[in-house]
Amino acid sequence: GKGTYPFYMLKEIDEQPAVMRKLSQIYADEAGKVKIDEAIVNALIEADRIYIIAAGTSYNAGYASKYLLEDLVEKPVELGIASEWGYNMPRLSEKPFFIFLSQSGETADSRQVLVKANELGVPSLTVTNVPGSTLSREATFTLLLHAGPEIAVASTKAYTAQIAALAFLAKATGTAIHNDKAANFDVVHELSIVAQSIEATLSEKELIESKVTGLLETTRNAFYIGRGQDYYVSMEASLKLKEISYIQCEGFAAGELKHGTIALIEDNTPVLALISNNPKVAAHTRGNVSEVAARGANVVTIVEQDAAIEGDDIVINNVHPYLSSISMVIPTQLIAYYASLHRGLDVDKPRNLAKSVTVE
Ligand code: M6R
Repeated sequence: GKGTYPFYMLKEIDEQPAVMRKLSQIYADEAGKVKIDEAIVNALIEADRIYIIAAGTSYNAGYASKYLLEDLVEKPVELGIASEWGYNMPRLSEKPFFIFLSQSGETADSRQVLVKANELGVPSLTVTNVPGSTLSREATFTLLLHAGPEIAVASTKAYTAQIAALAFLAKATGTAIHNDKAANFDVVHELSIVAQSIEATLSEKELIESKVTGLLETTRNAFYIGRGQDYYVSMEASLKLKEISYIQCEGFAAGELKHGTIALIEDNTPVLALISNNPKVAAHTRGNVSEVAARGANVVTIVEQDAAIEGDDIVINNVHPYLSSISMVIPTQLIAYYASLHRGLDVDKPRNLAKSVTVE
């Protein structure tokens, strides 16, 4: 049950530090050595390209893991929207490997692609929270999320668990191919830092709720912006807000604004800017923040500590750049939660939606 929590979503948001630690217990031994089924690692090594297929939040988690996988596994990672690929499979590489990300393991759109992959004889891995689920049974391999049941329609802990689980997979594969960056990436240690960063953010709920007040209670639209990893988090942040607050929200690559979308910015349009500590892009996103502020946008900045400046709204403790999507998404989950709550909506059961989508 949800215990003393008013909604499952809040409970599940709060469970995320524990989920991060649990994954380290499952996927590493006491000495910190990563334990991933060797057959999965070998299949990844055999492949020339990784295709991640998913829907909704799981699709966004795939993007959040792309950079980490590409860097450690040394192969291109391509994302596919399950409902598109089921009918329009693009030309595949010579030795493809499919990864299906699915909290429920029951998403019909993803299964449609898996059936095609099996027909083509393409090896596959399902990363899921539900052992014995359809996608788990039908794929070549399974990696479990161990996040515990996710009841709220809005997915939270499954997103962060997916990124963490893929981090273990990337570390194991990178180590097997003697990738230097993999050798230097202590995933257990870095995830413990992530867990602490999440805890620090969770202790700032009142601050985060106060940012929602006035910003998201009556507005019809909003934007999340970011670059690189923060762009991927923007996609997830905006899906979460749309889904449970019914605010029309777009996640945007900050640099793309000036190519059209900035025309939508008017007085008091909420723009939430995500700025993790990536020196290559942080200053550019700051520039985009100034541009929208000059057009009257109501800006909230969500910034990683080392990139923070005076006047930032929400500051997040630093984590390893491979894992920043996990720590940066937490305030956006809370923002969606409080926006829904302040609008008097049913946080856990948004209209028109089901927890798992078993029709195509
Ligand atoms: O169970 P799955 O991960 O396959 O579900 C995919 C999407 O339906 C799901 O993530 C959906 O977008 C969530 N309601 C988002 O919060």
